[in-house]
Amino acid sequence: MGTRHEWRDCKAWADQGLPLGTVSNEAAKLYDACITQLVGWFDDPIVGGIVTSMEKMVSADPEFGNTVQIIINLLKVYFKSVFIHSKVLGRVFNFGLRLMGTLESISSSQSMRTEYEALEALMDSRKGSLSSRELLHIEAVLLWARGKVSLAVRLWEEILLDFPTDIHALKLANISYLYLGQPDQLRDANARVLPAWEAQRPPLTSFVYGLYSYGLEETNEYRKAELYARKALAERPSDGWATHTIAHVFDMEGRITEGLQFMNSTVQEWEKSNHVACHNHWHVALYHVENEDYDSAGLVLEEKVLPMAKANGTMLDILDTTSLIYRLNILNPSSVKSFHWEEAFGLSKSHSKSHVSTFNDVHFMMAFAGSKSSSGVVEEMLESVPISGGELVDHATLTKPLLQAIVDFRDEKYADVVGVLEPLRYRLIQIGGSHAQRDVFNLMLIVAALKSNSSKHKGLARALIHEREATKATPLTRKFKNMVI
Ligand SMILES: [Fe+2]
Repeated sequence: MGTRHEWRDCKAWADQGLPLGTVSNEAAKLYDACITQLVGWFDDPIVGGIVTSMEKMVSADPEFGNTVQIIINLLKVYFKSVFIHSKVLGRVFNFGLRLMGTLESISSSQSMRTEYEALEALMDSRKGSLSSRELLHIEAVLLWARGKVSLAVRLWEEILLDFPTDIHALKLANISYLYLGQPDQLRDANARVLPAWEAQRPPLTSFVYGLYSYGLEETNEYRKAELYARKALAERPSDGWATHTIAHVFDMEGRITEGLQFMNSTVQEWEKSNHVACHNHWHVALYHVENEDYDSAGLVLEEKVLPMAKANGTMLDILDTTSLIYRLNILNPSSVKSFHWEEAFGLSKSHSKSHVSTFNDVHFMMAFAGSKSSSGVVEEMLESVPISGGELVDHATLTKPLLQAIVDFRDEKYADVVGVLEPLRYRLIQIGGSHAQRDVFNLMLIVAALKSNSSKHKGLARALIHEREATKATPLTRKFKNMVI
């Protein structure tokens, strides 16, 4: 089964138990097109891609304030943040970029507050005509805007109790748990609804297999993760997110040769999921790093990851770029060229004082610490970290020490790096992202411990390398091991 184009009209949505509250079949079908592209991480050229689909959706419903229009507006908030280039302007788009793109918050931006209030007023004025499901959707997005991500996700979970096949609620719950660093919840949210999907088999069921598979992978249930990812791929070979789960499984288990074979043999399919393609190429680069093949990793950076990050301008792609360059820098500094740093700096420099997400902040600092053009920016970033923020930050006990560790590594203060990272390593899950993404800190810690002058740190390095060997017996781990024997 490939890309579907038989979009659900009003009756089809209602038959699934998800009435949209509009009589516009065109708007209902376009809502389906949008949610399908969102869940599948792709632009469908038949409908002009996600942005065009959204624009058509808006014009399809002449009554701006009707039910589906409000949901659509809020969906646009989400789409914008994840997929759309930051140069694209537009009132709701811009609000969404800041909101879900974790760049700013309503507490730090007056214009953000203005947009929030406009959406809130829209909800209040339509309250009488909205269903409880629609009200919960709107309230959830507004809660997220206020930095209350865990409260927002509770509302999406509340929707799923009564409407388990509401893919909109399920997808946003998945994203929330990923940001919050809650993999158990990520896995279980999908497990709870899967029986309803399998009983009804509504459109997009295969994507739910993919969502579940990633939750399983992040909770170390690798066999089951692979099983569900392959179920998803059997129905839709181009599913870039299910592919991504398998990429993670191979990485986590140190099955590098299998990972490269799988990703290379399926690249023509998973590149169709154009919004996760850069990230999947990043995973390929990580295999090369584990193989100590820095030339190949550098080629993936220069030919895939960096160009895609520059073209798309999405947060995920920017962070992948800085993360990859930083890994190369830690493990094989000569493989990093000065233009790599400058490109990473160019992508990151406008975010030096954002401080919306600890995860984002540490990746921006990786770029700043390496770039020759970042004079003053490193200090500016360190000094501007606020005392508190939303739920996606822990500035006092995570952001600040992690930023300092990156600066200390640059300054070759390796004992200080160990002193910061070692006590924090089991708390890093709180910054969100995946095990593979956070592994950059394990690598930093091992290299810092190896380079530290403290004899105690040599013992720690040996212990950490043994620990890594238990799951990742790769050429990189073997090189580490040779350094401590
Ligand atoms: Fe990943």
